[in-house]
Amino acid sequence: MGLKKGVEIQPANGKLGVLMPGMGAVATTFIAGVMNIRQGLAKPIGSLTQMGAIRLGKRTDNNNPKIKEFVPLASLDDLVFGGWDIFEDNAYVAAKKAGVLTQDHLEPIREELEKIKPWKAVFENKWVKKLHGEHVKKGSSKADLAEQLADDIARFKKENNLDRMVAVWCGSTEIYRKPSDVHSSLEKFEKGLRENDSDIAPSQIYAYACVKAGIPYANGAPNLTLDTLALQELARKQQMPISGKDFKTGQTLMKTILAPGLKARLLGLDGWYSTNILGNRDGEVLDDPESFRTKEVSKLGVLEHILQPHLYPDLYRGFHHVVRINYYPPRGDNKEGWDNIDIKGWLGYPMQIKVDFLCRDSILAAPIVLDLALFIDLARRAGMGGIQEWLSFYWKSPMTAPDLYPEHDLFIQLMKLKNTLRYMRGEDLITHLGNEYYD
Ligand SMILES: NC(=O)c1ccc[n+]([C@@H]2O[C@H](COP(=O)([O-])OP(=O)(O)OC[C@H]3O[C@@H](n4cnc5c(N)ncnc54)[C@H](O)[C@@H]3O)[C@@H](O)[C@H]2O)c1
Repeated sequence: MGLKKGVEIQPANGKLGVLMPGMGAVATTFIAGVMNIRQGLAKPIGSLTQMGAIRLGKRTDNNNPKIKEFVPLASLDDLVFGGWDIFEDNAYVAAKKAGVLTQDHLEPIREELEKIKPWKAVFENKWVKKLHGEHVKKGSSKADLAEQLADDIARFKKENNLDRMVAVWCGSTEIYRKPSDVHSSLEKFEKGLRENDSDIAPSQIYAYACVKAGIPYANGAPNLTLDTLALQELARKQQMPISGKDFKTGQTLMKTILAPGLKARLLGLDGWYSTNILGNRDGEVLDDPESFRTKEVSKLGVLEHILQPHLYPDLYRGFHHVVRINYYPPRGDNKEGWDNIDIKGWLGYPMQIKVDFLCRDSILAAPIVLDLALFIDLARRAGMGGIQEWLSFYWKSPMTAPDLYPEHDLFIQLMKLKNTLRYMRGEDLITHLGNEYYD
């Protein structure tokens, strides 16, 4: 009956630094949110680590501790925030400009936010064509830039007397790229850094510097970053958890909630048309076709993997899937996502589902940043290096071990996550077998 031993997990003592390359809408909504929650001014809605419970044992046992009591997670009071941006606005100014939170949530923590000033970024305009920032490092090579990042990290650790750190990329979406020769091994990558190889993206320099410094890393954008042999080799070598990619919020969240339901009832799909309007800086960056391509690839894989047309050709073969994002400034961060879903039922009769989700992008993303920061720190203390597939729950495009397909179904992802926590603590895994057989 299960592994009673569990995994040895070091305690979450001391301060945890949360590093964020990119301090725009998502990062500042996360930081300001944590500060409000710490002061008891708001609730951490949407965060599994803060609000979630986990069932242990049989249903009749009535044993449902909070996740944060079941596994040793860093406390919100111990989080310290730092990061980089190509704009020098402090976190208060950046949050105001992002326009996500109202003054009700910014004024009470204004001073604390103002103290968070981003360090100069590693940035090249060719990777994010729509952005032009001045707050950027200069260096003799990409290796030199990586060292400058390492200096920032070491200074941050010392100044704040941190015990541990984690990093979550909250920066912009870079242009679409596939791995090239320089990404094929750590040795080639490090040579590429010294020789300024043009295929090494800024996001990869951050990931390299962090993982090398012993910092677990999560990739909130659809960027290639960690999906390279070189950085995965580094993560294995350093025994560092890595996780990605692209926060699962808004429309893709809805898709991975709805599609498993349609499939469970064996309803067919002829097409799924998704379009969005959004007007924040992310929307502006995605207005560039090369950055949009990166996002599109990340969003398109979802349905194919959930519906498995190869197993259900009569229901799902050849369905049409279109995803569009339109930059429309009046909306700011308050995205509107429409879905038209053409389904078919008994004898092939067609039906339609329309979804109009008036969502707030960064409000959905902020709790994900929090959970990821706490869980990758937990993984590190539990000695779990490399790709963290159990965190697929949070990603539009989950990273997997080579040759495995990603799991997109939100409910399977949640079961995987919770069973991983049970495994860590030596509890029986829950299979949801019926009463008469098991529980
Ligand atoms: N909000 C969501 O629901 C959501 C969901 C999935 C993914 N994402 C991704 O998360 C990221 C952040 O989203 P956002 O809404 O906060 O965007 P944003 O534009 O408000 O913030 C991104 C910030 O990153 C900075 N930046 C860009 N390149 C950088 C670099 N090389 N170094 C340091 N800083 C850099 C920009 O100046 C900007 O301030 C985007 O890539 C977005 O696609 C967001």
